[in-house]
Amino acid sequence: MTGASELRVPTPRRYVMCEPKYFTVEYSINPWMDPSQPVSAELAVKQWTELVDTYRRLGHRVETIRPVPGLPDMVFAANSGTVVDGRVLGARYRASQRTAEADHYRRWFLDHGYRDVVMPTAINEAEGDFAWTGGLLLAGTGFRTDPAAHAEAQEVLGVPVVSLQLVDPRYYHLDTALFVLQQGPSAHLAYYPEAFSPGSQRVLARLFPDAIIASAADAGCLGLNGVSDGKNVVLPMEATHLAERLINQGYEPTFVDIAELRKSGGGPKCCTLEIHG
Ligand code: ARG
Repeated sequence: MTGASELRVPTPRRYVMCEPKYFTVEYSINPWMDPSQPVSAELAVKQWTELVDTYRRLGHRVETIRPVPGLPDMVFAANSGTVVDGRVLGARYRASQRTAEADHYRRWFLDHGYRDVVMPTAINEAEGDFAWTGGLLLAGTGFRTDPAAHAEAQEVLGVPVVSLQLVDPRYYHLDTALFVLQQGPSAHLAYYPEAFSPGSQRVLARLFPDAIIASAADAGCLGLNGVSDGKNVVLPMEATHLAERLINQGYEPTFVDIAELRKSGGGPKCCTLEIHG
């Protein structure tokens, strides 16, 4: 689309991230995780550090939380909080192996001056299943976050929530199948329709008729687990087809290697909790 690039304006973001110092795959709670495959925490740290450097180079602020031994998935910061306009809704994990992470993040928010921190009563994997468009909170369910958490998020955060049903176990979190490219009243998204139920596909088509429709190959490398600042889009390096579509729409893809973290079912977005507003 000629001229589209003039419309794309990057805005500086604030991210919270956790170094994968104790990263491993020793249990399996999604189809990507195979505990019999070798995993290198050292390589995961290297890839994560490059992701942090990429964000800083793009002008974003990255704050970090100290990793805790015995919590190998703590690197996936996106699952630990949904923050909109200073209000924080914490996490409640479905898998017992991750339960303890929620309180470490809760304390991080309190230690960093957030007064309005609410812990959910329903299973809630935060930005794993919640995507803020700037006006709506898109909310996934089907594998992790309980539908009751959608109503709770609406009440606690005071934002309108749109529930979406996930149907493919490989795309167990909303952020593995959809991401927001540009926030605002006419938000722009990319998503993989086949990850959603027929009704949810129709909801997405109705709300976001101009969205970029991703292919099976885009989704299969966790390409939808991208992070956009409105112009620069950080993507797994294998997501070349999606990158081309983004360039045609005026975005600028930046590739990162997240192969080690993908062994746990995670990509750039999973590692990145965004403080919205
Ligand atoms: N191994 C983690 C889990 O299954 C990966 C979480 C990825 N995070 C995300 N936001 N999709 O819970």
